[in-house]
Amino acid sequence: MLNFDFYNPTHIIFGKDRLDEVGKNTPAGARVLVTYGRGSAKKSGLIDKVKTSLGNRQVFEFGGIEPNPRYETLMKAVEIVRAEKIDFLLAVGGGSVIDGTKFIALAALYEKDPRDLLKFGLATVPLDVAGKALPIGTVLTLPATGSEMNCGAVISHEHGKYPVLNVMTYPKFSILDPALTFTLPRIQVANGVVDAFVHTTEQYITYPADGRVQDRFAEGILRTLIEIGKTTVEEAENYDARANHEWAATLALNGLIGAGVPQDWATHMIGHELTAMFGIDHGQTLAAVLPAMLDIRRDKKRAKLLQYAERVWDIKSGSEDEKIDQAIAKTREFFESLGIKTRLSEYGVKADKIPAVIEQLKAHGMTKLSETGDLTPDISKKILEKAM
Ligand code: NZQ
Ligand code: ZN
Repeated sequence: MLNFDFYNPTHIIFGKDRLDEVGKNTPAGARVLVTYGRGSAKKSGLIDKVKTSLGNRQVFEFGGIEPNPRYETLMKAVEIVRAEKIDFLLAVGGGSVIDGTKFIALAALYEKDPRDLLKFGLATVPLDVAGKALPIGTVLTLPATGSEMNCGAVISHEHGKYPVLNVMTYPKFSILDPALTFTLPRIQVANGVVDAFVHTTEQYITYPADGRVQDRFAEGILRTLIEIGKTTVEEAENYDARANHEWAATLALNGLIGAGVPQDWATHMIGHELTAMFGIDHGQTLAAVLPAMLDIRRDKKRAKLLQYAERVWDIKSGSEDEKIDQAIAKTREFFESLGIKTRLSEYGVKADKIPAVIEQLKAHGMTKLSETGDLTPDISKKILEKAM
């Protein structure tokens, strides 16, 4: 097993009818900025309920955080935070609102150009660069990213999507009431299943490190998503399916399964470029890239792919390559069973756009990807060709 640190201070408040605990967990006397997206939380009455729970605290609102939250939008919130001396942020929404709020929390206390915070890639922004952030709480409305229990954010700026990781931005608390997801459009639920699935494979289908607990946890998350995937997508108000979906998604990216094992993230980094260039939803980019990634990288990932085939899909017969082929085909079928397309051409991306995607990967320094750091732009090109 590799050396690791594990630190996760987020207080999870999970289950039905727990929204009133927002007030109990927000510091008394706080000046709170409630942040939200483009209207779903306002329309459903959620924002009003959250404000009721906050009681007589001074509460301000900032709505309009878009999917794939943009730097310019978030800087408008930073102005409000500074002008109104806000000292607590409450994000109500999915990954985009929570990520955006983490960035606001850092940028509001950062004395230089906040674009500096976008320059660290998957490395943590060092504490001597940004060692302070406003505290945040979250009310999660979309199970997918794990942002509710991690310290990462992905911020869009100009033509790129930039990870921002900082230990100060773990939420203090997150309310996870699966019933708050009942209003989600079906496609967002499906995106959320795929995102959680691929977060898990990024930390599991790498090379063996004898991380037995981590592997079994990862296999448990994958098998759970396979079991409940179709139900959670098709039955909007199936509480138990949503509860399992939500907790699986949180555990997939809260640091637990990735501790002490190699991590890949190449599917995500390629996917981010596809979202930035073509506006394809995050989960959908992953559904198109992952099967191609596993196919092209089958030699590097062989041992774990065979473990994935056997322990996740119960594939026990055939040659090694036949087992791997079957596991990749089953993965693709699973995504498609949720209503998610798995070919870039089905999203309107033509093969002649691949060179431009490769240029963007290079421009963003994504030239040595994967768990072994040897996934070059040439290999990314092959993966994208396979994903067509
Ligand atoms: O803006 P509103 O009106 O709220 O609508 C949103 C949005 O249109 C809607 N929605 C959310 N909850 C709803 C709802 N509609 C009805 N009822 C509800 N209960 O869903 C749409 C998508 O929301 P978004 O937050 O963009 O989706 P998601 O949670 O999938 O987040 C995607 C973002 O997270 C980043 C992605 O790159 C992308 O920017 N990621 C963040 C990660 C992290 N922080 O650890 C890791 C991930 O790999 C990912 O990269
Ligand atoms: Zn993701």
